Amino acid sequence: MLPTIDLQDDVIVMVDQRKLPGQEVYVRCRTAPEVAKAIRTMVIRGAPAIGVAAAMGLALGMKRSTAKGTHQFAVEFQKTCELLAATRPTAVNLFWAIDRMKRTFAEGAQAGESPQELSNRLGREAKAIHDEDVANCRAMGAHGAEMVRDGARVLTHCNAGALATAGYGSALGVIRAAVEQGKKIAVFADETRPFLQGARLTAWELVRDGIDTTVITESMAGPLMRAGEIDIVVVGADRIAANGDTANKIGTYTVAVLAREHTIPFYVAAPLSTIDLSTPDGDHIPIEERDQREVSHFGSSRLTPVGAHIRNPAFDVTPHRYIAGIITERGILRPPYSESLRQAFTQLAGA
Ligand code: MRU
Repeated sequence: MLPTIDLQDDVIVMVDQRKLPGQEVYVRCRTAPEVAKAIRTMVIRGAPAIGVAAAMGLALGMKRSTAKGTHQFAVEFQKTCELLAATRPTAVNLFWAIDRMKRTFAEGAQAGESPQELSNRLGREAKAIHDEDVANCRAMGAHGAEMVRDGARVLTHCNAGALATAGYGSALGVIRAAVEQGKKIAVFADETRPFLQGARLTAWELVRDGIDTTVITESMAGPLMRAGEIDIVVVGADRIAANGDTANKIGTYTVAVLAREHTIPFYVAAPLSTIDLSTPDGDHIPIEERDQREVSHFGSSRLTPVGAHIRNPAFDVTPHRYIAGIITERGILRPPYSESLRQAFTQLAGA
């Protein structure tokens, strides 16, 4: 399986996703600020992977703490949570993972644990978050593969693969599972301007796995659909609101509208940790606006004239009415999402 991120004794190792596919370089983070920087600068990206990185960053940061006594340790923990939470605003998995680590800390503190014991507890929880994410991806794959027929031509946007998760992937997990079932699948990967996650990362992962991959610019999706060359769309998500509205990489909304126009089913694959019932709808999802330079430049070369305004929202929201189903580790949720999403959590709480 692809090595997205690994918490070793006193270092977190992650493949530098800014450098792929040209170079397979590994970044070693030794402190929580280094992990925060890696998330902000997109060394590691993708909603579940960011959550795992934050959990590991917290575990590592507290392991290195020199705090004298439990009170100072708790103050430091809180500050580290704030540091990591300030990295990227849209992917809710980041906040989900930090909240889970906070609950773990609180349980240990309640039990009167020492800083050393608390630190060990955080380490175990970070590892659990990582391992559960891989298991969730496998389960999403098994459920979602049922929607992908033999011979299907699948369009995906951005990278919702092993690199964007702890391993295997959400949208790409569905594709991988379909291929593992023996189906012949062809994937169309949107290039995904401006960071090129589709052209660089999705294509790299799929080619490595020997899966038939064609990279297209996003402007090609419409004509391909019109020509009958796409059977199904599967994408990932950064945050799914309580009514099913889904934030994902900028360009996803356009693909969803095009899919509806051409009667092509549009699926979102995401773990329950991406569903945020406290956000009522897509209008309440914070959309990250990234550095203009990602649009105005390609590497060090300027593409746009000095003086042109630049916009760079990193995500858009696909209204729930365009989504045929949300593939989760607990099965495929169907409209009306305000009911099916809530039910999925009620069932989880009772499990
Ligand atoms: O800006 P990125 O690369 O972090 O955006 C990633 C996406 O939009 C993914 O589609 C999403 O996080 C799902 S990853 C399984």
